[in-house]
Amino acid sequence: MAARSLARAALPVAVIAAQLGMMAWADGESETDPESEQEQALFRGMPDAEGRLEVFGFCGSCHSIDLVLQQGLSRPVWEQVLVEMVRDHEMVPLQPDVRVKVLDYLEEYYGPDRKALGSG
Ligand code: HEC
Repeated sequence: MAARSLARAALPVAVIAAQLGMMAWADGESETDPESEQEQALFRGMPDAEGRLEVFGFCGSCHSIDLVLQQGLSRPVWEQVLVEMVRDHEMVPLQPDVRVKVLDYLEEYYGPDRKALGSG
């Protein structure tokens, strides 16, 4: 697995945001505005909430985002996954505020109850 070259290809979140023209992201509110099917498909069904763009952008840049979304882990385990991505797979450490957003999102929707699938 060519993690080294893939790491350089990591998409800045801003680029993805720009591509989507997601102005809603700026104020962090889009509940009133139902997502288009296109957007749902792009985000692989990830619930539209704070942190989604960060998780999608950072965690889907080296491997499929599905690799992340198929998990159902508790927060401490997600924290460990992030440590391993940096230590073993050359992920650039996340900025503290981004890290919190990513962990909040993963804990909320991809915890052991896997709320994102509506099974919790
Ligand atoms: C710099 C590249 C890179 C980034 C960025 C990255 N990963 Fe990974 N990740 C890897 C590699 C390489 C593997 C192992 C090879 C594979 O299975 O594709 C992996 C595997 C995984 C696995 C499978 C279990 C494991 O430990 O092998 C999970 C879960 C995971 N990553 C989660 C994440 C999350 C969550 C993020 C975002 C915070 C993330 N990854 C960002 C490179 C990366």
